Amino acid sequence: MRLEKVGRQRAMTLASGCDFSSNDYLALAGSAALRSAAMDALARGVSPGSGGSRLLRGNCAEHLGLETDAARFFGSESALFVGSGFAANSLVVSTLPQRGDLILHDELIHASVHEGMRMARAPCQKFAHNDVDAAADAIARWRAKGGCGTPWIAFETLYSMDGNVAPVDDFAALAERAGAMLLIDDAHAVGVCGPEGRGLAAHLHGCENVVTLVTCGKALGCEGALILAPSVLRDFLVNRGRSFIFSTAPSPLIAAIVRESLSIVANADERRQRLRLIIEHAGERLAPLGITPSGMHIQPVPIGEDSRTMRIAEALQARGFDIRGIRPPTVPAGTARLRISLTLNIDEAAVSELATALEDLL
Ligand SMILES: Cc1ncc(COP(=O)(O)O)c(C=O)c1O
Repeated sequence: MRLEKVGRQRAMTLASGCDFSSNDYLALAGSAALRSAAMDALARGVSPGSGGSRLLRGNCAEHLGLETDAARFFGSESALFVGSGFAANSLVVSTLPQRGDLILHDELIHASVHEGMRMARAPCQKFAHNDVDAAADAIARWRAKGGCGTPWIAFETLYSMDGNVAPVDDFAALAERAGAMLLIDDAHAVGVCGPEGRGLAAHLHGCENVVTLVTCGKALGCEGALILAPSVLRDFLVNRGRSFIFSTAPSPLIAAIVRESLSIVANADERRQRLRLIIEHAGERLAPLGITPSGMHIQPVPIGEDSRTMRIAEALQARGFDIRGIRPPTVPAGTARLRISLTLNIDEAAVSELATALEDLL
């Protein structure tokens, strides 16, 4: 196979070692609270399977209850629950922008947005990472050439492979000026950042030009995703979104667990504070090694060359640290890196041990 020849063949391994790679930032995935939410839901008769599409027999009280809870918690007019963040992004991007519109996206946007763009009706254009002026220029050029539809600007709030944050308010101001819609992917911030863990776009959720992706498989410790949007756009997705219409509804049991997870996250300031201390400790231990602290729960260690990155990752794994090397095509060529994820599954002592190992290996 060609992938094997170029050293890019991937294989799945069972999780082992100290967790520096999951997105289970608040350590909820295996928590007693979510386990008992599952048991309680089963005990009151919630089914593991939905049995069909939401538009046929698969629409359950748990889906609707979750969507009501989520809209209230995040402050959006409505929410739509779907099976994964990947499915949500590709649904939104392939369904909402219309012919005559323009999709602008950050050059580092997640693969799921690219998947939506492959199916989208509108042309797509990337702008330099986090560069609001570049996005503004692209809109101005498009308008000058006669573009008269709506520009849709897609970006992540907290970048999953870089750990840096987008200028969310500057994008919001641009959208206001330019009559644009914002497609905000808040996958890695929800649960950890913002008031009550409502994410880095919490203050924008009620706006009529904002659609936000909340994933339930990261800090929420579960799976699935919530699309926060004005009701008119939710209705459009329900009526026109092919992967929503022609697909089995997510498990009602999972919806019930996500409901519980949302209420845990709303009251998890103590967990967020503990994670903040771990992040600060990581910054203090990694900076002397020449690693710029991201100040967030995603901490990249830039290496550059693919094979060296994978060798260091394997050496760390052999010492009991579950750290993965990230290489192209997930990140641009020449920017392979280790991705350190900081979660409540580890503590400061584990971070210190990791820093010692890195000092040896870098
Ligand atoms: C930024 C971003 N958006 C979307 C997704 C997709 O979410 P999910 O894992 O729920 O499919 C991910 C996760 O891989 C992500 O990192």
